[in-house]
Amino acid sequence: MKLKNKTILITGGSSGIGFELTRRLIALGNTVIITGRDVDKLHGAKSMLPQVHIIRSDVSDVAAIAALHAQVTSQFPALDVLINNAGIMRNLDLNDARHDVADITREIDINLSGPLRMVQQFLPHLKMQKDAAIINVSSGLAFIPFVSSPVYSATKAALHSYSQALRVQLRGSSVTVIELAPPGTETPLFREEFKEEVKDMKAMDVKVLAEHAIKGIEAGKLEIRPGLSNVLKLMSRLAPEFMLNQLAKSFRPTGV
Ligand SMILES: NC(=O)c1ccc[n+]([C@@H]2O[C@H](COP(=O)([O-])OP(=O)(O)OC[C@H]3O[C@@H](n4cnc5c(N)ncnc54)[C@H](OP(=O)(O)O)[C@@H]3O)[C@@H](O)[C@H]2O)c1
Repeated sequence: MKLKNKTILITGGSSGIGFELTRRLIALGNTVIITGRDVDKLHGAKSMLPQVHIIRSDVSDVAAIAALHAQVTSQFPALDVLINNAGIMRNLDLNDARHDVADITREIDINLSGPLRMVQQFLPHLKMQKDAAIINVSSGLAFIPFVSSPVYSATKAALHSYSQALRVQLRGSSVTVIELAPPGTETPLFREEFKEEVKDMKAMDVKVLAEHAIKGIEAGKLEIRPGLSNVLKLMSRLAPEFMLNQLAKSFRPTGV
């Protein structure tokens, strides 16, 4: 797919990977609409990229997704690319008995139910376009879990599985399903809750990640696994226990 003159909706475009993709895609001559929950972050993005269109919307809120669909399809009827990028990553020690039972699945609401609902809501519109795409941002952790973020890793494994099935179901339609599985990438999400766990790790520069993503999409790749993500996929087949134990070395139990 040529990324020029497309109309692209990116969830979570006000920071990190979503913001860098927005910057690149605008520079390539696309119309980009971004969402996020925090209005100040959205305005911050707009002040750096005046051409971007911003809409406050939470992917974990079903009513907000319906409202987003109504607004975007009426203001931007040429919408032909959906990038499901919004996500959170929490550091959770499951031994800690203080975890709220209701809250333990928060990442599922955002990272998994979010993309699934966005796809269901926008699919009829995307199918009407000549050459459309759904790009789901999973993670290298879809292939081997990071022990410190067990729920997050589970959402990404599920999103990988869902993307495979969706791709087959949409065969013969005008909609291509692409999975972008970034490795550890230098963004607020990567450091925020994992200062200790990742202090010795070198993450991919977000600009390099965006370059891989755009090149991969334009080259027709269906699963884009830059850097360590490719290694994780390979190792999940060759030596899954070994690789799990390697990633587990950074786990810092709270001992509660
Ligand atoms: N950085 C990495 O190492 C890495 C590696 C693999 C995969 N990924 C994936 O890449 C994606 C982007 O992550 P990032 O590293 O760029 O993180 P980030 O810098 O923290 O950005 C996350 C973006 O998502 C938005 N967001 C969070 N919850 C949302 C919700 N409920 N509804 C709408 N927007 C929401 C945030 O804005 P608000 O807070 O204002 O809502 C922000 O714009 C995520 O899916 C993440 O899992 C990241």
